[in-house]
Amino acid sequence: MKLGVCYYPEHWPKSRWQADVEAMVEIGIEYVRIGEFSWSRLERVDGELSWDWLDDALAVLHNAGLKVILGTPTATPPKWLVDKHPSMLAYDEAGQVRGFGSRRHYSFASLEYRQECQRIVTLMGQRYGQHPAIVAWQTDNEYGCHDTILSYGEVDLIAFKVWLKEKYKTIDDLNLAWGNIFWSMEYNTFDDIELPNLTVTEANPSHRLDFQRCCSDQVVAYNKLQADILREYAVGRDLVHNYMGFFTAFDHHKVGQDLDVASWDTYPLGFLDQEAIYTDQEKHDYLRTGHPDFGGFHHDLYRGCGKGRLWIMEQQPGPVNWAPHNPSPADGAVRLWTWEAFSHGAELVSYFRWRQAPFAQEQMHSGLLRPDGSKAEAAFDAKKVSEEVADLVQKLGLDRDELNALPSAGNVALMFDYDACWALDIQPQSKAYQYLFWCYRLYEALRELGLSIDIISPKSDLSPYKMLVLPAQVVIDDDLLKALNSFDGVLLAGPRSGSKTADYQIPENLAPGKLQQLMALKVERVDALPEHTQPNVNGVWGQGKLKHWHEQLATHLPCLLQDEKGMPVLVGEGKRFYLGACLEADLLKMCLEKLAGIAEVPTYYLPKGVRVRTRGKLIFVFNYGQSTAHYAPLDADCVIGKNCIEPAGVSIWVKSKKTIK
Ligand code: GAL
Repeated sequence: MKLGVCYYPEHWPKSRWQADVEAMVEIGIEYVRIGEFSWSRLERVDGELSWDWLDDALAVLHNAGLKVILGTPTATPPKWLVDKHPSMLAYDEAGQVRGFGSRRHYSFASLEYRQECQRIVTLMGQRYGQHPAIVAWQTDNEYGCHDTILSYGEVDLIAFKVWLKEKYKTIDDLNLAWGNIFWSMEYNTFDDIELPNLTVTEANPSHRLDFQRCCSDQVVAYNKLQADILREYAVGRDLVHNYMGFFTAFDHHKVGQDLDVASWDTYPLGFLDQEAIYTDQEKHDYLRTGHPDFGGFHHDLYRGCGKGRLWIMEQQPGPVNWAPHNPSPADGAVRLWTWEAFSHGAELVSYFRWRQAPFAQEQMHSGLLRPDGSKAEAAFDAKKVSEEVADLVQKLGLDRDELNALPSAGNVALMFDYDACWALDIQPQSKAYQYLFWCYRLYEALRELGLSIDIISPKSDLSPYKMLVLPAQVVIDDDLLKALNSFDGVLLAGPRSGSKTADYQIPENLAPGKLQQLMALKVERVDALPEHTQPNVNGVWGQGKLKHWHEQLATHLPCLLQDEKGMPVLVGEGKRFYLGACLEADLLKMCLEKLAGIAEVPTYYLPKGVRVRTRGKLIFVFNYGQSTAHYAPLDADCVIGKNCIEPAGVSIWVKSKKTIK
């Protein structure tokens, strides 16, 4: 439970650095991320390296006792480098080049650019790998930001052909897998293949899915290239990348395998305003705190994208500049977000940024300091948290490392699969049905029941869980089938699970494909609905409305919810259940509560806007609502706050001795 900040010494005169680090220490900051956009200052001219300023900045930070996370500067290649390798630039779907003048102007598939990255990362690794101030390295910055995973240029086509040859070996196998006989799309050689853009109507979904997989693999390879170099020179340092909110265009589970820590950048207000997932009512109710599940969902998702270690690399400190509207956070919201991250297992919360820049693109983005160097509101929130952590350590009689070691796992798991997300986004069938949003709403319902969740990958060990939700596990491979078969908790499989083969075709035995080995049912027809049409459902588990997606199920399994024609919607027995529709929030919650009951996981109906997270012997309560909430966990003593929690407030409880296992 440590605090950090993102700092850009290259933006400020050297004479200011000492005052900056002193103010950081005074606030309670221990970690500082630097360097991730500094290439033009490190190498203004090809091959002429200027290390002095970075040497000095590191020395100032180190002398103040601050620990440094050094970013590789590859998200912002300088102008000379782009001019030297124009083919490294990315191309958008319309075939337009995405040029120099902002950031992320490269294609992951460019081998020329990878060589330049290899060169600069090696030089940095050699110079700073063993620097005593540096405890971690961040690779690049926010892979995919500004929609930069899919690129449609010449280098991307070359990489795609190589990838396809490797996967299919023969062109006939590719034609068969993609179903290219349809509309006479058959190819004679791998060289015939083009990228799936600029077609008259939609390109073949198998073609698109493979392209997405290929682009994702380019990110994995690009990250690994940097990670391998840093492993060699920065021995003993953590490797980390900073992921983003609601971003699914590459497989984070795969990238995470080459890193030590998964981190992400959390901007709760920017995302509330920008994302289509949220209703106008939610945008109104949570304008100044963000949605109650935005933080938790991503903390739990990214804690599962690697080796279980989580950091927040960038935490919103005040208004941002990039959403359609950019309101100020509620008083105390920055503190709430920080504590919430800790409650979900974050070891570090680092604010973006130290001082608001008076120039360039982000001059309207706040920091802990105002542009004139005076403290902005978030500096006081951060200081308060650092004092509270010290207070907590004392009250619990633990040291900081013991606090950090408190287990953060949940006992209910939600499976998240990037490949399933791409598959369903490519052919959504109903615009209203989106994989990510459906996962989020399931997560929300589980969290409203007071549950602590792990978001896991299809390859995760299922044995720790009493209950598992598969939102829409499109492809069920043999390994997963085997794992599900031996899973002895309660399983709920959601609509579209098992609905495709790995080649993106309908399985011979129809959906849910291989899942039929676990549950005797078949999906015979799908009614994909617009938002405004929400038919009634009812049954022994409740009543309400279904939305977006409605499958016609052929089954003799006991029916727990049925539609207006009496056709089954939710079926199952023992510990295996299948839901053939999306459900509106209240009904979804009722059904998940029944399942948790079967799994013997206790649930609680929390007041609106309140969330609870358990971490070891600690229970954290957060109030995202606009009015004071009353909530006290059973058998626990309050250590911070009290049982009435003001808006944007936090209370922290320790389980009473008799309930600690
Ligand atoms: C992140 C990015 C930062 C900064 C920030 C502004 O996406 O990593 O460099 O741009 O957003 O909110």
